[in-house]
Amino acid sequence: MNLPSLKDAKKRTGMPVEYIYENKKITKVLDGKKYFIRTYGCQMNVHDSEEIKARLERLGLTETDNMEDSDVVILNTCAIRENAHDKMYGFLGRCKHLKETKKDLIIGICGCMAQEESVCEEIIKKHPFVNLVFGTHNINELEELLLKNDNKLDINVYSIEGNVFENIPYTRDSKYKAWVNIQYGCDKFCTYCIVPYTRGKQRSRKSIDIINEVNELVKQGYLEVTLLGQNVNAYGKDLEDELSFAELLEAVSNTGIKRIFFVTSHPWDFSDELIDVIKRCDNVMPYIHLPLQSGNDHILKLMGRRYTKEEYLTLVNKIKTAIPDVCLTTDIIVGFPGETEAEFQDTLDVVNEVKYDSAFTFIYSPRIGTPAALMKDDVTLEEKEARLSRLNELVNNYSLMNNQKYQDQIVDVLITDISEKDESKVCGYTNTMKLVNITGGKDLIGKIAKVKITSCKSFSLDGEIID
Ligand code: SAH
Ligand code: SF4
Ligand code: F3S
Repeated sequence: MNLPSLKDAKKRTGMPVEYIYENKKITKVLDGKKYFIRTYGCQMNVHDSEEIKARLERLGLTETDNMEDSDVVILNTCAIRENAHDKMYGFLGRCKHLKETKKDLIIGICGCMAQEESVCEEIIKKHPFVNLVFGTHNINELEELLLKNDNKLDINVYSIEGNVFENIPYTRDSKYKAWVNIQYGCDKFCTYCIVPYTRGKQRSRKSIDIINEVNELVKQGYLEVTLLGQNVNAYGKDLEDELSFAELLEAVSNTGIKRIFFVTSHPWDFSDELIDVIKRCDNVMPYIHLPLQSGNDHILKLMGRRYTKEEYLTLVNKIKTAIPDVCLTTDIIVGFPGETEAEFQDTLDVVNEVKYDSAFTFIYSPRIGTPAALMKDDVTLEEKEARLSRLNELVNNYSLMNNQKYQDQIVDVLITDISEKDESKVCGYTNTMKLVNITGGKDLIGKIAKVKITSCKSFSLDGEIID
C-alpha cells in the first residue's frame, strides 16, 4: 500500500494538521488531545512505544496515564506466550467499555500480536470497535493512519518486513539511559518461538548509523545505552562488509558513553572476541543475559537451539574465567513437548553449575504457526507448574547467594529514579544490573555514584552513598 505523505510531520506549532487522502484535504486539530499507551512484552516493544509516543506528540497529542482521560488509546502487544494474548484481550474489554461513553475514542492495536493473522481475524469478528491495527513493520505510518481514520476499523499490517529506517523520532522514557536498536527481527527460528514470524528476518542497522545515534545521545547527556536485538551476537551477518558484534561493541565503547549493556545474546554466536571486548572495555558492563532454555541435549535439539549442554557450560566457564565479576542471567522454558523428569533434571543441573544471578522462567506455551506447536504437548499443566516452582526455588536461592556477595562492597550505581517502595530513597542499577535502593534525595538522580551496600535481598540491594 502506498500512503500519501503527511504534510505536517514536524514538531507541532499549534496549526491544524493537514493531510491529503484520496484527493481530499483532511484537516484535524489534534492539539490538546491526549493519548494513553499500554506496552506489553520485551525491551524491543518498550522502545517501539518510545517511537509511537514521539509520532503522536508531533501531531500535538500529550501523554496521560489515565486511560479514561484519553482520546487515543494504543495497545502495543506481545505474542510470546498465550498469557500475553489473554492480557491484551482483557485490556481490550476495558477499552470497549470506555468507547461506549466516548464515541470518538480512537483505539489502536500494534506490536507482535497485530502481525498474527488469527488475531486480525478475531478483531474483525469480535472487536470491531477497534479503529486501527498496524504491525511491527509500519510504525512509521502511524501519523497517516491516525489522520485518515474515520472511526471505522482499519487494518494495516504487512507480512513482509520492509527496509531498516533511520532518523526515527523517539520520546525516550529516561534522560539518562537509552535503548538503541542494532538489529531487527530474528533468523534463528527456535521451534517454539513466534518472534521470527512477528518481527521478520534479521536486519542489522549499519554500524555508522548506530555510532552516530550513540554519539548524539552522549551529546544530549545520556550516560547509558543498551544495544537491542533478538540475537545481538549475530549482528552484521546479514550485511556485506559490516563490523562483527564484538567490533561494533568496541566502536560504541569508543564513543565515550559511560555504560553499555546489550541484550540478547544467543549462546551459539558468542565469540571469543566478544568476551575479550567485554573484558577490555571499562564502559562495557560485565552483565550477560545468556538464554539457556533447557539443559538437556535432546530437548535443545527439538528446540532448534544449535548448542549442547556441554557447549553451553564450556562457554560459561570461558566467560567466568575471563570476567570473574560477571553477572549471568538466563531464560528457561519448562515443559517443552515430551520433556521428561530426567530431562528437566538436566536443566536443574545447569542451574546448579552456573549459579545464575537471576532467571526468567516460563512454562512452554504453544504458538500457532511454529514447528513445536505440532509436537505432542504431553506434559500435564500440573507437572509444568510443579517444575516451574522447583526451578524458581533453586534460581531464587542462587540469586540471594550471589547478591550476598555484595555485602559491604562499594559499587557504582547509575541513579535514575525515586525508589518505588520508599519515597525517601532513590534507586538505580549497578554495572552488573543489580537494583539498589539508596538513602538519599532526588538531587542524586542522573549521577553515577559510589554506593556502599548495606543489605542484600534476593531481588534487590540496599546501600548508602559514600563520598
Ligand atoms: N531472542 C531472545 C529471546 C526472546 S523471547 C533469545 O533468543 O534469547 C524471550 C524468552 O521467552 C525466550 O528466551 C524464551 O525463554 C521465552 N519463550 C519464547 N517462546 C516461548 C514459548 N512459546 N513458550 C514459553 N516461553 C517462550
Ligand atoms: Fe526466538 Fe530463538 Fe530468535 Fe530468540 S533466537 S527470538 S528464542 S527464535
Ligand atoms: Fe513479545 Fe514481540 Fe518482544 S512477541 S517478547 S514483544 S519481540
